[in-house]
Amino acid sequence: MFSKYKKPSAATAAPAARPDDKVTSIAPAAQPAAAQPTVTRKAPQAAPAQVAPADKERKRKERMGEIKLDLHRVLLENLNLSALEHASEQDLRQEISAIASEFLEERSIVLNREDRQTLTSELYDEVTGLGPLETLLQDETVNDILVNGPQQIFVEREGKLELTDVTFKDERHLLRIIDKIVSAVGRRVDESNPYVDARLKDGSRFNAMVPPVAVDGSLVSIRKFKKDKLGIDDLVNFGAFTEEMAAYLQAAVATRLNIIVSGGTGSGKTTTLNALSSFIDNAERILTIEDTAELQLQQTHVGRMESRPPNVEGKGEVSPRDCLKNALRMRPDRIIVGETRGEEVIDMLQAMNTGHDGSMTTIHANSARDGVSRLENMIAMAGIEMPLKAVRSQISSAVNLIVQASRLQDGSRRMTSITEVTGMEGEVISMQEIFRYQRVGLTPENKIIGHFTATGVRSAYAERFRMWGYDLPPTIYEPVAAE
Ligand SMILES: Nc1ncnc2c1ncn2[C@@H]1O[C@H](COP(=O)(O)OP(=O)(O)OP(=O)(O)O)[C@@H](O)[C@H]1O
Ligand SMILES: [Mg+2]
Repeated sequence: MFSKYKKPSAATAAPAARPDDKVTSIAPAAQPAAAQPTVTRKAPQAAPAQVAPADKERKRKERMGEIKLDLHRVLLENLNLSALEHASEQDLRQEISAIASEFLEERSIVLNREDRQTLTSELYDEVTGLGPLETLLQDETVNDILVNGPQQIFVEREGKLELTDVTFKDERHLLRIIDKIVSAVGRRVDESNPYVDARLKDGSRFNAMVPPVAVDGSLVSIRKFKKDKLGIDDLVNFGAFTEEMAAYLQAAVATRLNIIVSGGTGSGKTTTLNALSSFIDNAERILTIEDTAELQLQQTHVGRMESRPPNVEGKGEVSPRDCLKNALRMRPDRIIVGETRGEEVIDMLQAMNTGHDGSMTTIHANSARDGVSRLENMIAMAGIEMPLKAVRSQISSAVNLIVQASRLQDGSRRMTSITEVTGMEGEVISMQEIFRYQRVGLTPENKIIGHFTATGVRSAYAERFRMWGYDLPPTIYEPVAAE
């Protein structure tokens, strides 16, 4: 499904794709102008999935929508909701199906078998599951679900946001579903606790904010849990990085460099961290610490921890720092912290500096340099009084490698830089970039043209790699000429 990403940029033959490119006959002459395509791109985007299958389908959907609304009301009136809690799935489905049949018969509505089944299962989702969200949750091609109030639900597919035709009946309906989700995981959300972050049963990450803080209706974002996380091979296939970079990263992980994956929101940090972890030897004991357990390590010896926010009374918090401190007493070979964003940075750096080398984490930053500043800030915010130089020297000796994950403007996710931290020069942390993604332009379809290249700088760890049996050929450090 990500095949689009395979070689969008290498396709210098893009003009060939132009003539049959939807209805946009306006554009061809204006190809070189970057601004033009944004105008032409919008129209086709809204169109493809829904309109093409014809008006008939739409009408059918509308009709089904109406029937469902009515029927839902009837159901709620007729079903004994408290008894429902204990009913088996089969009983419940039968019950719903019976009420639905009666309803349809009363109104002389004739539906074909397929529609009838869809109707029953949608109603089942409504009563037991997450209503309109259920289909999106089950849709494998959807990565993220973003709800902006009851009438607007976006999804992300292949790095692109699209508006869906799924809606909630009204804000109350949306709130009811939110409430259902959060109460199932023992949390609450209302005017006095207007936002919540939780993990759904299936592992998906869920965040909601309700009015009045959310001004135009509740805001929900769901990062769907992927059972099959993208592995190194997938990422290489999708063009997230090259074989050479993968070989380098393998050497880095296997030889126990401390690695930070830096990146913006949704840039692929967790995915990268997860993929990198596959290079860890199966004999090692790995402890993972996350806010919401997303990592899926393949090794045998893995201890997973999930930090916990305070409960409604403000008690029971287990912070990432608590987990980390405890982890250090649990004889780990490696510690992986899902995201470092606060005071736990101190313990993370200390762990990296004191024998738990080979540890990894992610941070929110836009470049390796920016990442280092973020670490400095986190230390300052944690209230540690240390001269800046000492802070930097701590960082420079703890962190060996910063891997930058980025989501580019065309939706593609790439490892835009691999940078080594090499020490201190005076007051400044010295770094050297080893690989980078070189952008060269934009296709008329707004796809980024670019390629990965080494910078020509040999790794400061080349000797270490060699000694550990990862003798990388010097050619991997040679820059690749632009096509
Ligand atoms: N190279 C890639 N190609 C295609 N999809 C990717 C790639 N990397 C990550 N993804 C997908 O992008 C989504 C976001 O990835 P991920 O959760 O790793 O991002 P993140 O930076 O950790 O996000 P957050 O900031 O929300 O924690 C996931 O659905 C993931 O499967
Ligand atoms: Mg993440």
